[in-house]
Amino acid sequence: MELLESIINRRTHRESFLDENISTVHLNRLIEAARWAPSPFNVQPWHLVVITTSQKKRAIGKLTANAIIEQFGDPEFLDDNSRWMRSSIEEWVDCEDGVLLQDQVNVPVGLSKPSVLKPVIKHASHFSKLGKFGGGKPAEETENLINCAPMLLAISMDRNRKPPGAGHLRWMWLGMGAMIQNILLAATELKIGSQFISAAIERTSDREKLSKILDLPSWHEVISLLRIGYLEKHNANENTTRSFRSVRRKTTDFVSYETYSQKKADEIKESSPA
Ligand SMILES: Cc1cc2nc3c(=O)[nH]c(=O)nc-3n(C[C@H](O)[C@H](O)[C@H](O)COP(=O)(O)O)c2cc1C
Repeated sequence: MELLESIINRRTHRESFLDENISTVHLNRLIEAARWAPSPFNVQPWHLVVITTSQKKRAIGKLTANAIIEQFGDPEFLDDNSRWMRSSIEEWVDCEDGVLLQDQVNVPVGLSKPSVLKPVIKHASHFSKLGKFGGGKPAEETENLINCAPMLLAISMDRNRKPPGAGHLRWMWLGMGAMIQNILLAATELKIGSQFISAAIERTSDREKLSKILDLPSWHEVISLLRIGYLEKHNANENTTRSFRSVRRKTTDFVSYETYSQKKADEIKESSPA
C-alpha cells in the first residue's frame, strides 16, 4: 500500500480481530517502524511491552472494565464525553467530527432512534445522577475485546530520557505521538487493525495499577494501550461497519495561509531551478 493510502485507510478497529496471532515477522515490522520515529534530541523515550498471554490480558481487561463502570457513574465525565458523541450517521457526517455513539457501545434498541438518543446524550449527566446509566455492558464488551485480542501493546515513556529545556515533557509527548502513529501506519500496511484503549489509562490511579501489572520501573509513565490484530479479510476495505467509517473536517476549516484568518493561499510564483 502507498503511504498516503495507508494514512487515509487507517481506521480505529472497535470489533474483534481474526483469531490469529501476529506473526513474529509482522511484529518486528511494527517495532522497526516505532524505532525510526523522530524524537527531540533523538532521545527515543519510548518503551513497548508486547502482551500476548491470557493472564496479562485478563488483568488489563478487568482493570479497564472497572474503570469504564466508574466513568459511567461519573456525571462530569459523561457530560464532558457527550459533547463529542454523535447520535446518528447524519449528525456525525454533518458535524465532521466527534464519534458515533453506536461505534463506541451497543446502544439498547429502545434508545437507538436519533430522536430519543440525542436528548439522552445531551442530558447524560442527569441520567447518570438518576442512576440510569450502568457502565456494565460497555465494560463487559471492552473487556471481551481486550481478552480476545491477539496482542496488546502497552506504550510507556522513560522520563529519564528527557531532552533539555523547561518544555521537555511537551517535546517528549510529541515524539511519543509520532512513534505511535508509525506503528498504526505500519500496521495498516500489513492489514493489521488497532484500537487505543484509553479507559484504562485515563486516571492516575489506573495508570499506576497498569504499571504494576506490567512491572514498569517508577520512572516510566504509561502513555497508551493498543489492541492489535489481523483484520477480517472480507471487511478490510469495507466502509460500512463500525470499524471502517470515519469523518473529518474539511481542509479549508483548519488550514490558513500566512495568518490564522487568511483562508486562501497567495499565488505562489514558480521559481525556476538554478
Ligand atoms: C490519544 C488517542 C486516544 C484514543 N482513545 C480511544 C479509545 O479509548 N477508544 C477508542 O475506541 N478509540 C480511541 N481513539 C481513536 C479515536 O476515537 C479515532 O482516532 C477517531 O475517532 C477517528 O477515527 P479513525 O481513527 O477511525 O479515523 C483514540 C485516539 C487517540 C489519538
